[in-house]
Amino acid sequence: MSGTAKRTVTLTLDGSNKSSTLPLLDGTIGPPVADIRKIYGDLGIFTYDPGYGATAACDSKITYIDGDQGVLLYRGYPIEQLAEHSNFLEVAYLLLNGELPKPAELVEFQKGVTHHTMLHEQLRSFYNGFRRDAHPMAVMCGVVGALSAFYHDSLNIYDPDHRRISAFRLIAKVPTIAAWAHKYTVGQPFMYPRNDLGYAENFLYMFHGVPAEEYKVNPILARAMDLIMILHADHEQNASTSTVRLAGSTGANPFACIAAGIASLWGPAHGGANEAVLKMLAEIGHVKNIPAFLADVKDRNNHAKLMGFGHRVYKNYDPRAKIIQKACHDVLGELGIKDDPLLDLALELEKIALNDKYFVDRKLYPNVDFYSGIILKAMGFPTSMFTALFAVSRTVGWISQWAEMIEDPEQRIGRPRQIYTGPTQRDYIPPGQR
Ligand code: SDX
Repeated sequence: MSGTAKRTVTLTLDGSNKSSTLPLLDGTIGPPVADIRKIYGDLGIFTYDPGYGATAACDSKITYIDGDQGVLLYRGYPIEQLAEHSNFLEVAYLLLNGELPKPAELVEFQKGVTHHTMLHEQLRSFYNGFRRDAHPMAVMCGVVGALSAFYHDSLNIYDPDHRRISAFRLIAKVPTIAAWAHKYTVGQPFMYPRNDLGYAENFLYMFHGVPAEEYKVNPILARAMDLIMILHADHEQNASTSTVRLAGSTGANPFACIAAGIASLWGPAHGGANEAVLKMLAEIGHVKNIPAFLADVKDRNNHAKLMGFGHRVYKNYDPRAKIIQKACHDVLGELGIKDDPLLDLALELEKIALNDKYFVDRKLYPNVDFYSGIILKAMGFPTSMFTALFAVSRTVGWISQWAEMIEDPEQRIGRPRQIYTGPTQRDYIPPGQR
């Protein structure tokens, strides 16, 4: 634990002479944490925090979020600066290694990724086991998890070289796996990765290209793809990252852990929200229907949510949403899409919601998913692929957080406790007496 205990917080148990003095640990920025590890020994109590909204599960140096100020830092660098000046592979190096690469280091890293983009030929047959209409995230879960059956040479998670090669393999192969999931759905031949293309270009080539003709990567789309990948690369201890850490804490191999992260990301409350936003906008259909939709969202008996709004941490505008909103305008303009009805509807929905007491009182602002679907649709991606693209980007964040956990000397198997409110002990009742 890099924090230092300069201060303490003391809890006393009503009706007893018991108290527990807990070290208050300071990080470099952000709120201090009370180290509660001895609370059960001192007071015989657990803490209760469903959804872990007030629980620091680990000591991390990778990503910092200030939800009130709308700040996002990757290894200390503001997301706005990385979005403007960097590229995805440089950000991937930063997340994995903690520092921006020197030019020669970046070249080496790019070579490492480029030379692991191909899949074992037998992995192709995994796709044939799926229905053609399988959701790409189902395919991603299956094929990424299956990678552990192909790389017996790098499953010792305590060997730094094994961790390093697994990171290269996962970062390099997930775009191929995702692109092939789409090709399988549309019945087109798989496109093999090309070593002469950059990371985002290669993905676009494998996704949109066909063997029948040359595919020229549109630089506008490539830059937009790279930007989207930067913005989705990591995000502190979100649900899927926490899933990867928990799976990794048991000693499971990195491929299985990343597959678990993909499964967790799929949920509409998390990475599946970008797909859900497009469905929501399609259901609303027209600006005139916004008031009725928002009335449904505010109706306690209704379970409608304003998808793409709200966040467990951001109680201000998600900085990534601001960047993507601007990119939407740029990309649509550069693609010659004068006015995109979906974007117009989203902008109007945002304007109305941000002035509506229900959302203002609950500090509900657009998050990264509110605009990402619009730009991805404009770039020609089917809605069903949106979360798979999120998974492609987030893989480097997951693997960075996984490696940090493995290297953490305080790392233990994750095993939360509970408050039990079920039946007290009772005896078995034979069937005839029930
Ligand atoms: C991502 O964690 C991360 O970092 C995730 C992520 C990442 O990069 O990894 O940022 C990616 O997952 C972004 C979030 C994408 N999800 C959505 O857009 C789905 C819609 N959002 C909600 O489901 C919700 O806002 C969550 C899941 C994101 C957050 O859930 P919380 O923390 O449980 O919500 P909350 O406690 O802040 O809610 C406070 C109130 C509640 O109402 P009351 O009980 O107080 O009356 O706001 C309501 C909620 O019901 N509320 C919403 C709402 N989100 C919260 N009401 C309507 N629409 C919404 N979107």
